[in-house]
Amino acid sequence: MPTSRRLRPVALPLLLALALLTPFALNAEEDAQKDQPDLQQIMEDAGKHFSALRKIVAKTDQTDQALEHTHQLQTLMLAAKPLTPEKANSPAKALAYRRQLAVTTRELCNLEIALLDGDTEKAKETFRKIGALQRAGHNQFK
Ligand code: HEM
Repeated sequence: MPTSRRLRPVALPLLLALALLTPFALNAEEDAQKDQPDLQQIMEDAGKHFSALRKIVAKTDQTDQALEHTHQLQTLMLAAKPLTPEKANSPAKALAYRRQLAVTTRELCNLEIALLDGDTEKAKETFRKIGALQRAGHNQFK
């Protein structure tokens, strides 16, 4: 057929290029996944910051460190939001998971404000709230 004969000189180099480039495209996808920490790693890090924070949340001479742990926890909760775990396996559960992390982040912002205000009682109370949100999140989704 005249059409396929006309296409042949173009098609062959195209197929060759596709064959050569596909492994690179697949590798790039794998690399992107490797660069993104998984939920377990994010939560493990959160656990370390949370334990460190527990020891100093009421110590007025360590506010800078408490603020840093709080900031790291906020960042980690936001990073966890798009990483829906297996147990959030329906659209409604996925929204509930996202909401629980949003509420936890909100309380971490309240904790930051209490620390900045030097309001130790409020900081302790908010820290307890965050602990309860963590337990509720784990009961439901871990
Ligand atoms: C300050 C708040 C939180 C802290 C400190 C925290 C800490 C942790 C820790 C230490 C683990 C175990 C990680 C490991 O296996 O080594 C974990 C796992 C997990 N957490 Fe949290 N968490 C918090 C909040 C939440 C919330 C609000 C949710 C859900 C809305 C949640 C969902 C999960 C899930 C699904 C896992 C299992 C991850 C996996 O193994 O794939 N966490 N978390």
